[in-house]
Amino acid sequence: MRDPQRVQEVLHGMLKAGLDTIQVISDFDMTLTRFAHNGKRCPTSHNILDNSQLISDECKIKLKDLLNKYYPIEIDSSRTVEEKLPLMVEWWTKAHELLVQQKIRKDQLALAVQESDAMLRDGYQWFFDCLHQHSVPLLIFSAGLGDVLEEVIRQAAVFHPNVKVFSNYMDFDETGVMTAFKGQLIHIYNKREGALLQTGHFQELRARPNVVLLGDSLGDLTMADGVQEVENVLKIGFLNDKVDERKQSYLNSYDIVLLQDETMEVPNAILDFLV
Ligand code: TMP
Ligand code: MG
Repeated sequence: MRDPQRVQEVLHGMLKAGLDTIQVISDFDMTLTRFAHNGKRCPTSHNILDNSQLISDECKIKLKDLLNKYYPIEIDSSRTVEEKLPLMVEWWTKAHELLVQQKIRKDQLALAVQESDAMLRDGYQWFFDCLHQHSVPLLIFSAGLGDVLEEVIRQAAVFHPNVKVFSNYMDFDETGVMTAFKGQLIHIYNKREGALLQTGHFQELRARPNVVLLGDSLGDLTMADGVQEVENVLKIGFLNDKVDERKQSYLNSYDIVLLQDETMEVPNAILDFLV
């Protein structure tokens, strides 16, 4: 923590304001899901699809080439967001163009998720169940694939009615074959715009001015920008990769930084304090 006293003040402020003033806004990939397990990388929602039988071998190679080119840029702390932004848009655009060509069937997504190595962080069940039990809304705000991430939480039996997802969703034709992506593209650096557009959701939550925000990228810091009249935002950041290089910038922007922590222990302890 850069400023433990601020964290304490925010937590006490939230406790005093009461549970019905609190909402949780969380990123999905590498925030609610594990980054690695037994030394092996875990997949993002894009990777779940990329590695599945729904994608041809030729397309798999192209998607892997994109990942190898753009992921190092995503986590490069020597480049500014301004430099990275057009390159990230390029990555998402190219990857989604390739996915659209694959004639992905809606009814095969569940199997792709079932057969994948996707894993929610240890302690996820307590996290989701606690929020549900106390009627605290959870907005999952993801630049990943909405259809896939919904299936991950559905299969983990934690897609409770208090969970809302804002993400990139596929459009299917009447035979259930994917033809496009719906709406405006969400990538890692336009979550602010997305938050401002998401007026329906945020209107519903206007009366909840205290936000616990969970993310793993510096792009996740703007996810609560659509909430009006914010009182407190407690920002918890998972730093998964290139820890030494990025630690200072994460400490400067997140209130709490968790270093290569594959669990929900800290967010859960905070919820336990608040409920
Ligand atoms: P988010 O976690 O900020 O919502 O971003 C989604 C993650 O998805 C981001 O870390 C990059 C990753 N990604 C892939 O793994 N494959 C892809 O094809 C694309 C476009 C993104
Ligand atoms: Mg993420």
